[in-house]
Amino acid sequence: MSQEQTFLAIKPDAVQRGLIGPIITRFERRGYKLRAIKLIVPDRSLLEKHYDEHKGKPFFEKLVGFMGSGPVCAMVWEGKDVVKTGRAMLGATNPLNSAPGTIRGDYGIDLGRNVCHGSDSVDSAKYEINLWFQPTEIQQYDRAIEGWIY
Ligand code: PPS
Repeated sequence: MSQEQTFLAIKPDAVQRGLIGPIITRFERRGYKLRAIKLIVPDRSLLEKHYDEHKGKPFFEKLVGFMGSGPVCAMVWEGKDVVKTGRAMLGATNPLNSAPGTIRGDYGIDLGRNVCHGSDSVDSAKYEINLWFQPTEIQQYDRAIEGWIY
């Protein structure tokens, strides 16, 4: 059974709009397991490391400023193919291009406030989980039906 993990961050816009619950519900109902969760206002140092590959791009300062503007709900989710499926559940980066039924397609219209971040690869997920969480913050537990509900 795959124990693949991904990092999700519900962004300040969605935290302020009370969308933590609906977003978590989608992942739980899909069958994924929440392994870690915390509310955190990320400092610049953390965000520069998180968005390192985008340093120098025109949107970088706006993105870092926005992500540090309020609490973010940082999470680790686990289960089969969760990196790719999680990105599909989020929808396209620009909410205006996100299909209805996706998280951004249902909850967003603004590229600068696009609701939720999700790791874009297994390697990125490992990097981001290690950056945002201490190993002791990641919990192990059984869900009711292990084997196909992760
Ligand atoms: S790129 O250049 O194609 O690699 O960028 P992309 O993968 O589309 O986006 C990388 C992250 O930057 C955010 N982004 C923006 N934020 C604010 N304003 C603008 N114009 C903008 N363009 C891209 C985008 O949401 C990605 O952040 P995350 O946290 O992964 O959603």
